[in-house]
Amino acid sequence: MAKIKTIFACQSCGAQSPKWQGKCPDCGEWNTFAEETFSKASQDRKTQPGGFYSLSDKPIALGEISLDKTPRYKSGLNELDRVLGGGVVPGSLVLLGGDPGIGKSTLILQALDRLAKNGCSVLYVTGEESKEQIKMRADRLKINAKLMIVTENILEKVLAHADTLKPQILVVDSIQTVFMENLESAPGSVSQIRECAGKLLYYSKSTGCATLLIGHVTKDGAIAGPRLLEHMVDTVLYFEGEHSGAFRILRTIKNRFGSTQEIGVFEMTQAGLLEVGNPSEHFLRDRGEQAIGSCVTTCLEGTRPILVEVQALVGSSNLATPRRTTVGIDSGRVALITAVLEKFAGVQLFNQDLYISVAGGFKLTEPAADVAVMLALMSSFRNKPLPSHLSAVGEIGLTGEIRSVSFLDKRLNEAVKLGYNLAVIPQKGKLEEKHKDLELLRINTVADLVESFF
Ligand code: TYD
Ligand code: MG
Repeated sequence: MAKIKTIFACQSCGAQSPKWQGKCPDCGEWNTFAEETFSKASQDRKTQPGGFYSLSDKPIALGEISLDKTPRYKSGLNELDRVLGGGVVPGSLVLLGGDPGIGKSTLILQALDRLAKNGCSVLYVTGEESKEQIKMRADRLKINAKLMIVTENILEKVLAHADTLKPQILVVDSIQTVFMENLESAPGSVSQIRECAGKLLYYSKSTGCATLLIGHVTKDGAIAGPRLLEHMVDTVLYFEGEHSGAFRILRTIKNRFGSTQEIGVFEMTQAGLLEVGNPSEHFLRDRGEQAIGSCVTTCLEGTRPILVEVQALVGSSNLATPRRTTVGIDSGRVALITAVLEKFAGVQLFNQDLYISVAGGFKLTEPAADVAVMLALMSSFRNKPLPSHLSAVGEIGLTGEIRSVSFLDKRLNEAVKLGYNLAVIPQKGKLEEKHKDLELLRINTVADLVESFF
């Protein structure tokens, strides 16, 4: 009989302790320790001679490793393939996280449909929905490929199904709903997730089956049982977007087989997720002509330039501490921009409420958007629209200078493509190409910027 031991494990990072603790010494979270039992048996494999370790795979010189053997399974959903670094790698373990109801199951079902049509054998294990529910969704999505579906929560059985079917792609929806029977802790707890993911990792690496785990996200935005899962898998994808809006972004947080800079853009419709091949058009389609407080900027998501609209609303405040509300952009960045504006352009905003929003639910993370934020703010403050075909890029420094940004040519090309043929760029920005049909306004300081437009 295996010895049963209880430990306390942090439900946030997986740290273990023999005693309960109020604050996790590892990740600093409060009140995350929960009692868990784990049987000693799961650890005994280390002591078994041979068995678990086989030396079939001998060390090999780096130069002799051939890459021809690793083709990728392409789903044909370009937005997904690109994010994965060019398709699903055989033997890889991929985690797809996202809020409940954001469309993870939908995305995966659509991808599996195409993968199956391209000749991959696929097993979809669901622990959340019944087969009938999946069938209903599949009908709505007009999915007709040969997908194998099974409803199962017990991990050992999942692996047994996989072992009989030997699929090239295995999907577990979701990792929080599968559990191992010999562990006493509840499904979704850290030790269950760790052990289950560990078994699936071993399965995928030893059989070459690409395994996709779907993971839920906790209230504060982390994939439940987060860190330990992220360390175990090869690729972490994150599906996000506003529930109210139709627009969704698929992001890579980690990728052992490609860049983490890529994003995929989708739109949720009645007929499932549609790829948005040209996100700039998508983000700007609702933009009004001559709108006050609106400025377009080109930001880079990975290698992709995307045009987005920054909107600002400035109005005098009745509050002792005026409101500073931002959506889609870091409020610290906006505070910095307003501080520079006050100091170097003499614009008094201390008694104004500021609201900044990035239209379409996009998140701006690049400092290159600073100039556009400043222009939008000023446009609202002075009640004067900017030229409607203007795009602006540039980072604002604390000494009031406008600093250069990377990949200027790429950004400008995208802007011109969509008809934005007047561009504010930093004085020092180097251009490799000659841009026809484009009027450039090179600006060196914040004071010059405000003077040129207001
Ligand atoms: P789902 O894939 O079940 O989300 P998750 O697996 O991330 O929890 O998506 C559910 C939502 O997507 C649901 O609110 C309805 C919406 N949806 C559509 O708008 N159109 C569709 O064709 C489908 C299948 C779902
Ligand atoms: Mg789901």
